[in-house]
Amino acid sequence: MTHAADHGLDERSLVFVCQGPSCGERGGRQLAQWLRSWIGGCEARFGLRVCETTCLDHCPTGPNVAVQEESGVRTGVVGEAAARALFAELHEARRPVTGS
Ligand code: FES
Repeated sequence: MTHAADHGLDERSLVFVCQGPSCGERGGRQLAQWLRSWIGGCEARFGLRVCETTCLDHCPTGPNVAVQEESGVRTGVVGEAAARALFAELHEARRPVTGS
């Protein structure tokens, strides 16, 4: 398997394209297909991966995309205890959103 680092990239980004009902009506599936097609034809394919996801809670402005660095992926999260520990960690790390 080829990795981002093999091509001088520090990490790979995951591009989540919403396939929820609102984004679906506004072209979410076509957006995901276009991104995959475009990425597949250039060097970006080593640094980007397109994933489909459900509602991202920004329905009125779709189709929506969320970008996350691969370093944020957790693997081997198995069972309720692991899920609870992950939830507790995420809840603990969450900071209040403040306006500027
Ligand atoms: S359906 Fe895409 S953000 Fe809700």
